[in-house]
Amino acid sequence: MCGIVGYIGYRDAYPILIDGLKRLEYRGYDSAGVALMNGQLELFKKKGKVADLEAHVGSRPHPVRIGMGHTRWATHGEPNDINAHPHVSASGTFALIHNGIIENYAVLRQRLQNHGYSFQSDTDTEVLVQLIDFFYQEGQVTAEEAVRMALSEVVGAYGIIVMCQDEPDQLIVARKSSPIVIGLAEGEYIVASDATPIVAYTKDVIYLNDGEMAILTTEEYTIKTIENVIQQPLLQRIELELEELEKGGYDHFMLKEIMEQPRSIAESLRGRINPETGQVVLGGLVDVQEELRAANRIIFVACGTSWHAGLLAEYLFEEFARVPVEVEYASEFRYRNPIIQKGDVVIAISQSGETADTLAAVEMAKERGALVLGVVNGVGSSIARATHAGVYIHAGPEIGVASTKAFTSQVTVLTLMAGYIGQLKGTLVPGMAEAIAALQAVPDKVAQILDSNALLMDVSARFKSATNFLYLGRGYHFPVALEGALKLKEISYIHAEGYPAAEMKHGPIALIDENMPVVFIATRDESYEKIVSNLQEVVTREGRVIAIVSEGDTTIPELADYVIEVPQTHPAIMPLLTVIPLQLLSYHIAVMRDCNVDQPRNLAKSVTVE
Ligand code: M6R
Repeated sequence: MCGIVGYIGYRDAYPILIDGLKRLEYRGYDSAGVALMNGQLELFKKKGKVADLEAHVGSRPHPVRIGMGHTRWATHGEPNDINAHPHVSASGTFALIHNGIIENYAVLRQRLQNHGYSFQSDTDTEVLVQLIDFFYQEGQVTAEEAVRMALSEVVGAYGIIVMCQDEPDQLIVARKSSPIVIGLAEGEYIVASDATPIVAYTKDVIYLNDGEMAILTTEEYTIKTIENVIQQPLLQRIELELEELEKGGYDHFMLKEIMEQPRSIAESLRGRINPETGQVVLGGLVDVQEELRAANRIIFVACGTSWHAGLLAEYLFEEFARVPVEVEYASEFRYRNPIIQKGDVVIAISQSGETADTLAAVEMAKERGALVLGVVNGVGSSIARATHAGVYIHAGPEIGVASTKAFTSQVTVLTLMAGYIGQLKGTLVPGMAEAIAALQAVPDKVAQILDSNALLMDVSARFKSATNFLYLGRGYHFPVALEGALKLKEISYIHAEGYPAAEMKHGPIALIDENMPVVFIATRDESYEKIVSNLQEVVTREGRVIAIVSEGDTTIPELADYVIEVPQTHPAIMPLLTVIPLQLLSYHIAVMRDCNVDQPRNLAKSVTVE
């Protein structure tokens, strides 16, 4: 999960590459580097952020027309200057940048060492560039042929760009299980891991398919398979606007994305509820209606925050569509020989649409005969393209590493899907129509909650030095508790755990003392009295309580240290409201602890490696 970008055209490549790397930095920020074709290959690489690379390069008087850049999330080899990409072959003939993992690198490395190759770095990537060099030097072949020969020996995932000193007027690009988008403009091409570095120059793109290569010169591009069969690419137009990729006056993308939720949820709903009948309309599922009607079981596969949305969907689908549901971590599902039966529908949930484990789970479920659907944000992403059908969440680009608006849009769409499948199966229970109707008022209610930002800053100031947090909720609010805990730990590095509130007395209650903040999600629903009892158990043991409650609650304010009110709506829809204060709480605590909110340590936005 690194970011790669390449440019070939008539402008100076360097500023385009740097700008592109900054947009891709969410994918990894351990080190960065560029290779420029300036008569010969010029290389700059630096541990740290793209800004560190820029400082290292300094001012550059000579424009170049061809180059490529990389921002790294380290897998093999610690983050340092040497392990930074691009990697160059021992002869200096080839430079290569890579997103993915070469799984058989050890065997290949040994083989190359036997042929006298020596290695500078600890990376798997260097093996690939040396292997290309090996075939090139041995075989009297072109650079393109050498790349093809090397790729046929590689096991693993890759999105690569290769430059060759002897054939300086081209970029060679290839992909397997790591995304590559090629932007096509007049007299220039921009290649990248996603469309964000491209959109400033063109909206016409080609998404490279698995097993394809692209040869780019200033005059033309050619797409072929790695086996050298020419392909007719599908030209597509992207809908992304440049402003969507900017912070828009906010200090961090995360805050901007939290604040955007009234709009992003409205986008997820747009055109999907018939205003006359109240019925759910999901165009992306029309072609699979029969299979959905016959569905015996639904299996959600996802990771991280998307898995939390899947867990919420279990409650929604079982309550409203009366279909049995299982929720699986994609990484576990794909490796444990799961039983897939006739009538099973697998639904992959992913913001990026590029998460390696989720993509692998999709492929496995397809091989085993399941209908596989996607609930995805990344338009044209690998998961969106690998699934049989699906529903885009239309949250817009999410750049902060901590997922916020994607979660609320996923839950919005999953609620609609529960209604849609219930409609098809005729299993809709009373209450679902009210829940669907209630969805339409959610954007306004979210906007109202966002007004409590100042209160959440106060609460954050009080607890910013805590070392542990517990998050407790029941029913629909158990997944929200998990999500609140994940948000806090990933951006503020405070240990936090989410639990079903009733489970507290089976162990976690031992942790409660005057230093333990406990966040209760305790709005009015059928388990309200029960959760008030749980809250009292914490108060009795001197735990510090922050409670998210329904507007007008008079009981919990008597018990809790801090209370944040949210408007009441249908209980099944409440998670879309209760998660908002938890996002703001973790955001403010992280800022107050001086943490890098948008780029937390060790993390990357898209986990495109196992
Ligand atoms: O792009 P995806 O939704 O597939 O990503 C899944 C997780 O990597 C992601 O949700 C991660 O847990 C976030 N950092 C959570 O904020």
